[in-house]
Amino acid sequence: MQEYAFMVHRIPVGILGGSGYAGRELGRILASHPKFEVAFATAKERRGEPFAVGDRELTLLAPDDAPLKSVELVFSALPHGASELWVDRVSSNGVRAVDLSSDLRPGHTSRDVPYGLTELFRADLVDAEIIANPGCYPTAILLALLPLLEGDHIESGALVTIDAASGVSGAGNAPRPELLFAEVAENFRAYGVGNEHRHLAEMRETVGRFNRDVDLLFTPHLLPVARGILATITVPLRRMPTDLLAVWQQRYAGEPFVEVREQLPALRDVIRRNVVRITARPVAHVRRPTVIVFSAIDNLVKGAAGQAIQNANVAFGIPETTGLLG
Ligand SMILES: NC(=O)c1ccc[n+]([C@@H]2O[C@H](COP(=O)([O-])OP(=O)(O)OC[C@H]3O[C@@H](n4cnc5c(N)ncnc54)[C@H](OP(=O)(O)O)[C@@H]3O)[C@@H](O)[C@H]2O)c1
Repeated sequence: MQEYAFMVHRIPVGILGGSGYAGRELGRILASHPKFEVAFATAKERRGEPFAVGDRELTLLAPDDAPLKSVELVFSALPHGASELWVDRVSSNGVRAVDLSSDLRPGHTSRDVPYGLTELFRADLVDAEIIANPGCYPTAILLALLPLLEGDHIESGALVTIDAASGVSGAGNAPRPELLFAEVAENFRAYGVGNEHRHLAEMRETVGRFNRDVDLLFTPHLLPVARGILATITVPLRRMPTDLLAVWQQRYAGEPFVEVREQLPALRDVIRRNVVRITARPVAHVRRPTVIVFSAIDNLVKGAAGQAIQNANVAFGIPETTGLLG
């Protein structure tokens, strides 16, 4: 009987920002997580509305009414600027937090908060009280670049050129005229041009840890689909490796959520899955050795809720893939 009670005990968790795209995705994935159980979810304008966790239906609470002390972990899917205060409130109640906003990511704070790019910083996440979950674009881009950085493959002084396109859910579900169906559908455009996008800060900080002489030039685009990111990254190399793809295959051998493939990745390969899919191709007809790396993720899963749960699994000493396969 005692053993049965132990087996069915699940760790109670809360979701701040449950009515948003990332919060709803947390609800969807956590519904079948065998170790975490959603105890509450919050909303601001949409407080009082239903919140689905699989077959269960909770009612979205105002953040001030959230029973923070009743849970062991809170996922904050609040907008940047609003999240840090709540994460600190959670933490001051002795509860752990995974922050999906940019507030506590490298380049945005002077605080030393573990950065949840799991495949790079896994050891820092074990028992972490607070984790800063990476942005969606940085997840796709940094995981694509990581083996080149670690192996010192990139030409000194290189400009790494990143063109990436995201589905519309990347912008959240607060109403904005430029995100209306008639503006987005059958259309394609760049935004945040001029290398000023907010996600550059965490990418530059992370690349900077490798002491490589590299610049990043990042241009995001708005793709007329609900979800998914495809990044196309042009990288000048010191020399072309004999077996190019082996650079990624060796680095990510044994990584459950990184799929290195010969084929070019497409959004359909990654949608609703907690994976990044990567390939690399040498470039012909240019004077210097150059590679194009392609990386695809679901912005709401590996780029947000899925990676947040992956990080929470690591923090709680639960097998990393729990609730995230299939
Ligand atoms: N969307 C993505 O692909 C993605 C990927 C990675 C990280 N993120 C990050 O995850 C966070 C959530 O993103 P999202 O796309 O889910 O945003 P969203 O759809 O706009 O949802 C925001 C959520 O926060 C609530 N909220 C807004 N302002 C609040 C405030 N001042 N106090 C308390 N609650 C407030 C909203 O409640 P109401 O609905 O009631 O207004 C909603 O539940 C953001 O920090 C975002 O940068 C998003």
